Amino acid sequence: MTESTIPVIAIDGPSASGKGTVAARVAAKLGWHYLDSGAIYRLTALAAIRRGLLLDDEASVAAVAAELDAAFVEGVILLDGDDVTDAIRSESVGDGASRVAAMPEVRAALLQRQRDFARSPGLVADGRDMGSVVFPGAPLMVFLTASAQERAERRYKQLIAKGESVNIRQILQDIEQRDARDRARSVAPLQQLAGAHLLDTTQLNIEQAVQQILHWWDEVKHSPLSVQA
Ligand code: DC
Repeated sequence: MTESTIPVIAIDGPSASGKGTVAARVAAKLGWHYLDSGAIYRLTALAAIRRGLLLDDEASVAAVAAELDAAFVEGVILLDGDDVTDAIRSESVGDGASRVAAMPEVRAALLQRQRDFARSPGLVADGRDMGSVVFPGAPLMVFLTASAQERAERRYKQLIAKGESVNIRQILQDIEQRDARDRARSVAPLQQLAGAHLLDTTQLNIEQAVQQILHWWDEVKHSPLSVQA
């Protein structure tokens, strides 16, 4: 299979929708590779912060993105050889990621790196622009979302379980602000594409969401118009 014929399931959607967990499980069930594209933006932000750069210095941050020394090894994420799996999940790195992700030069510098994840037998990729920009030929595109209130509650429970002291109203406000920024930016804004299946998980658990995507994939595979061999 050439890079362009490798099947890709593109899962886009807003922050805290659970798409990362769902996408990783779909990949595991199919025995495919998995791309967490948000992690690439988070790694870029962390690398820039560690180099003491200002996050609004687009050319310098794009240079860091182009040279990013990152690796994903069995659930561990390495930056310059350091384990940063937990560090990239902090709120400050998430905020930095959302800022650097709004810069066209940074997005361009990271494009091929993301496409390189498409390897046989297939790829499940999650993010904001997997279907629109990175893998526009993906045979299955999903827009996975949940109400802002539900996403805030899910994140609240996760943070409480980690022993953090958090305020649900603040979380809801942060989620709404990040949604607005991801939707309003001029490059690769978060959007539901015309050909994407809408998966609203407000009333679904993770397993139900995974099964729905696997079902859609089965339909695509058996469709006479399928681009699959
Ligand atoms: O999914 P996440 O929270 O890990 O993403 C971190 C930030 O990166 C988020 O603000 C949106 C941005 N992002 C993006 O612009 N494009 C992607 N394909 C993935 C993430």
